Amino acid sequence: MNSFDYTGKTALVTGASSGMGREFARQLAARGAALILIARSEAKLQALAAELVRKHGVSVTVIVQDLAKSEAIPHIAARLETLRHYPDVLINCAGFATYGPFEKLSIDRQRDEINLNCLAPVELTHAMLPGMLQKGFGVIINVASTAAMQPDPYMAIYGATKAFLLSFSNALWGEYRSKGIRVLALCPGATDTAFFDVVNADEASVGKRMPADKVVAQALQAVDTNRNTLIAGFGNWLLGQLHRFVTRQRLVLIVEKILRPRSA
Ligand SMILES: NC(=O)c1ccc[n+]([C@@H]2O[C@H](COP(=O)([O-])OP(=O)(O)OC[C@H]3O[C@@H](n4cnc5c(N)ncnc54)[C@H](OP(=O)(O)O)[C@@H]3O)[C@@H](O)[C@H]2O)c1
Repeated sequence: MNSFDYTGKTALVTGASSGMGREFARQLAARGAALILIARSEAKLQALAAELVRKHGVSVTVIVQDLAKSEAIPHIAARLETLRHYPDVLINCAGFATYGPFEKLSIDRQRDEINLNCLAPVELTHAMLPGMLQKGFGVIINVASTAAMQPDPYMAIYGATKAFLLSFSNALWGEYRSKGIRVLALCPGATDTAFFDVVNADEASVGKRMPADKVVAQALQAVDTNRNTLIAGFGNWLLGQLHRFVTRQRLVLIVEKILRPRSA
């Protein structure tokens, strides 16, 4: 199948200030898309915007928002309405993880994690889909994780948010596939980004880290063929099949051993 044509399309990317989000912005700009970049770090977003304009001559809009806050999505929707920007491509990439015994992790931080990893993608998708349906064209990529494939002791909330995103994305793929909307759940394994600095624990990193540009290139290829799920990297794909061969109870015990904090 031919590569999908992003020329003249507008892509909204959350988490664009770093890691995979920044890489999505770069690869989509290289393929001719105008960009709407969202995260909290204004200086990083502005630096990326300048780079994309210089290298690819595309139009770039920066929106600084904390997506864990309930007012963020209505604010973004209103801003896009004022600018008359209606995204054809939505990349829900912003996200973070918490790691450690569940009861010791701050409940406020875990609430933010649920809001950012689950609610923000749901609300953004809900806000952007009608415009896509009107045009009969749209691409939505939700960045889940291999953590979605099984329950994750010591990352209980993170794993649950990513399982939510995987299920949500696959369901939308089923609903909208005949209406010109492509929905991909991207499930990266360990990827070389700032993610583990934010988690503040290398123990949460399983396997060799893939470069972010490779993961993003594979995701865009998966959109080309309208796949609904991509586990990036063969090793990650193999690990993601474990649930087919052992009971769910056994699976949790295996993952508990892998993720158990060294201090526990
Ligand atoms: N790296 C991995 O190993 C890995 C594996 C599987 C899945 N993932 C998923 O991949 C996605 C991207 O992560 P990454 O690896 O690229 O990590 P990253 O480099 O830490 O990027 C995270 C991005 O999310 C943004 N963000 C965090 N909190 C936010 C908030 N409250 N509001 C708005 N934006 C916020 C950050 O921007 P600001 O700080 O500027 O707001 C940053 O741009 C996440 O959903 C993560 O769960 C990562």
